[in-house]
Amino acid sequence: MDSNKRPDDMKRITTMELANQFIDEQVKELRAQIGDKKVLLALSGGVDSSVVAALLIKAVGKQLTCVHVNHGLLRKGEPEQVIKVFREEMGANLIYVDAVDRFLDKLAGVDDPEKKRKIIGAEFIEVFNDEAKKLKDVDFLGQGTIYPDILESNGVKSHHNVGGLPEGVKFELVEPIKLLFKDEVRIVGKALGLPDNMVYRQPFPGPGLGVRCVGAITRDRLEAVRESDAILREEFDNAGLADKVWQYFTVVPDFKSTGVKDGKRTYEWPVVIRAINTVDAMSATIEPIEYAVLNKIVARILSEVKNVNRVLYDLSPKPVATIEWE
Ligand code: XMP
Repeated sequence: MDSNKRPDDMKRITTMELANQFIDEQVKELRAQIGDKKVLLALSGGVDSSVVAALLIKAVGKQLTCVHVNHGLLRKGEPEQVIKVFREEMGANLIYVDAVDRFLDKLAGVDDPEKKRKIIGAEFIEVFNDEAKKLKDVDFLGQGTIYPDILESNGVKSHHNVGGLPEGVKFELVEPIKLLFKDEVRIVGKALGLPDNMVYRQPFPGPGLGVRCVGAITRDRLEAVRESDAILREEFDNAGLADKVWQYFTVVPDFKSTGVKDGKRTYEWPVVIRAINTVDAMSATIEPIEYAVLNKIVARILSEVKNVNRVLYDLSPKPVATIEWE
């Protein structure tokens, strides 16, 4: 039987009861596969790798080592949440790698979007491999592959959060959710006790805020993306929009315009608000957001985010625009 094919009679996981059954079965299977050996997992904090981490912690506890790489392009509060949930609450072995300078130095002056993506992907693999090499006796590599990854790309998760295998090291893959669809992964995550904002969070691209800091990334503009994104997310939560809008984020383009603050002219960046709905990300429509909500977001961004003097609202559907700006 092809282990990468979902059996025709596999029940769709739609309830907590079915999720708990799946968890019990996987814990047994993981224990049988792993025995007393060690497993390594790149833990981005996205729903897929988080669910795999929680399953592995349940199955083999400290035999799992999670590596969380902070590449400086994560959203506000993300690394802290990964540490809190996995190290402090679940007691995982978690290596936190502060690779912010390493990534931003490599990206300095690079303005081509695809080059930026390549650098981020390649650097991620290097950082992860550096950590993997330091650990002894690891036999297994956990991966958050899910069924759409198998259907779309023959099982190889294409985004950076997986990492490659360190040279000369042969790991056996552990992919406990590879036959699940995203909605099933979320229910399993919920049943494993992961927080809602991890389980139900909107898609976040592998290159992170890097593709929302348009052009060559600078630290101050990146901070403007991160801070404005945090405000947008908070206000969408407050307005009950977080589960009505598929993806919402801010972008900081690399041009400035004039403004006026405290009677003085300024020359600063704009923040662009993007909020879209889609079924499959191939096309997207603009979600109409109430003016009062937008107004509040604009006021907060203009008063709280440094180096910004203008807020724009991107009303372009996909096509002709893409969802991200890069
Ligand atoms: P676009 O901008 O192509 O985005 O309309 C479609 C969806 O894909 C996400 N996206 C990415 N995800 N790595 C990822 O993991 C990437 O390089 C990447 N680029 C775009 C985007 O956020 C949207 O959901």
